[in-house]
Order: sequence, then structure tokens, then C-alpha cells
Amino acid sequence: AVLPPEQVADLLALSEALAREAGDLVRQRALAKVTVTDTKSSVNDVVTAVDREVEELLRRRIAAARPQDGVLGEEEGAQAGTSGLTWVVDPIDGTVNFLYGIPSYSVSVAVVLGEPDPQHWTVVAGCVHAVSLGTTWTAGLGMGARRDGEPLRIKEAVPLGQALVSTGFGYTEERRREQAAVVARLLPQVRDIRRIGSVAIDLCLVADGRLDAHYERGLNPWDVAAGTLVVTEAGGVVQGLGGARPSQAMTVAGPAALVGELAAALEDAGAPATL
Ligand code: IPD
Ligand code: CA
Ligand code: CA
Ligand code: CA
Repeated sequence: AVLPPEQVADLLALSEALAREAGDLVRQRALAKVTVTDTKSSVNDVVTAVDREVEELLRRRIAAARPQDGVLGEEEGAQAGTSGLTWVVDPIDGTVNFLYGIPSYSVSVAVVLGEPDPQHWTVVAGCVHAVSLGTTWTAGLGMGARRDGEPLRIKEAVPLGQALVSTGFGYTEERRREQAAVVARLLPQVRDIRRIGSVAIDLCLVADGRLDAHYERGLNPWDVAAGTLVVTEAGGVVQGLGGARPSQAMTVAGPAALVGELAAALEDAGAPATL
């Protein structure tokens, strides 16, 4: 075991408590009018004051409970720790949905061992709290995955032609042109495509057997940390192309056989192996 089971259980309990407290703040702020306060990589890459306020809350709580651990969050970047553990947090995954009042957004909190990068980390515990859907997914390394406390098992692989596949798009024009070209080649080969708008929720829906698979290019560690463990603890795999580890270049999640088929189709469709 990477960590003793009691420690995994403690970290999992803290991940869930943090995600739920952050979720309460998001829910409260959603009652008032939410506006864009800033944009990042493009005019469509929006940030609200709530994203920042929620990340600040998470950082305060982590610093108080686990002062030795590092933190990596979308809005305020990386803070090194000394314990080897890093909290990888996305205060609101699905900010555009949050802004438009579409319920598919979540708070994602995970703790990872090693470098906080999908190519190197071991995710130890994670929680995706879909505030407005009222659904919470959790996973602990070696402890399985759960939805609202009920154990989850991923659905068996279906052939690609019968797969309901979700994806997502980046914010820059260049990235979108490239993603549009790939999705245009893939769409005729699958049952249908979904673009839910919170990759943390996409991954949990895959773990939950509601979606057959998810693929996306350009994801950051905070988008995928908690959801990755929910998928793998539910019996699925999260990979890059050609069986590589997932990276910013590509993340493909689902049951192993379908991930292999989908990754091959993505390569045929022209998905680049590097970012
Ligand atoms: C985004 C969402 C979206 C995905 C984007 C992410 P944010 O995160 O997860 O579904 O397609 O790549 O950046 O910015 O809403 O936290
Ligand atoms: Ca964002
Ligand atoms: Ca995100
Ligand atoms: Ca975010």
C-alpha cells in the first residue's frame, strides 16, 4: 500500500468535508447575480469572484488542517509543501455553466502523492461535489468509489459504435479548431457526443456508467485529479493515447477495452500525441 488505509480514510473524509463546505459557499453565492470579473486565455475563458473566493476558502481550510501539504489550485497556482502530499483543487469546475445557471458545475478536491501532474502522481483521495445537481462522488485509493455513499462500478465496455462519449473544448480559437476537426471525424463513429461542461462531472458519470467514455485535450491537473480516482476506483482506466499515462495532450477515461478503441479512433481522427 502507498499509504496506510487509516490515512487514506482520513484524507478522504477531509476531501469530502472541504468540497461540501466549499459547495455551501457556491450555493449561497449562486443566489445572487454572478458576473464575469476577469478573463484568462481568451474572452471565453471567464472567471468570477466566486471562483476566487471559494479557492481562498479551500486554501485557508487546508492550511489550517494540513499545514505540511502543498496546494495546487486553478485560480491561485501552486504552493509547495513538505509532506509529499499536494491538494489539487478546482473551486468551480464548470464556471461557464455556473455563470449561465446551468446546474452542471462542481467543486473538485483531491489529494495526490508525488508531483501534482497526471503523468506522475498517485491520486490518494478525491471528492467531486456537484453542488446544484445534489450529487457527490468520492473515492479513496484502494477503497473504491461511491456516489452519495453507494459503491460504484463502471459499466462494461460497449463497442465504440454504441458508445455515448463526452468531451470538452478549450478556450482558445486555435485549440478549438483542432478539437472541432477531431470531433467531426469521431461523431459518425459513436452513438452520440455530450459536452456537459464540467470535466470532473464527466469523469464521475463515466465511473457511474451514465456515460460510456470521456476524452479531452488540454486538461489541467485540477480538472481531473478527483475524477480520475473516481474512475479508476470504479474499475475504469484513465489514459493518454497509445496506452501512455494521461497528460495535457490527451485524457481518455472509461472501461479499458473502450478506452483502447476510442484512443485508436482519436489517433486516426488526427488527435496529436503532444500538446
Ligand atoms: C473547464 C471545464 C470544461 C472543460 C474545460 C475546463 P473550468 O473547467 O471542466 O468542461 O472542457 O477544459 O477548463 O474552467 O470551468 O474550471
Ligand atoms: Ca476556469
Ligand atoms: Ca476546471
Ligand atoms: Ca475552475
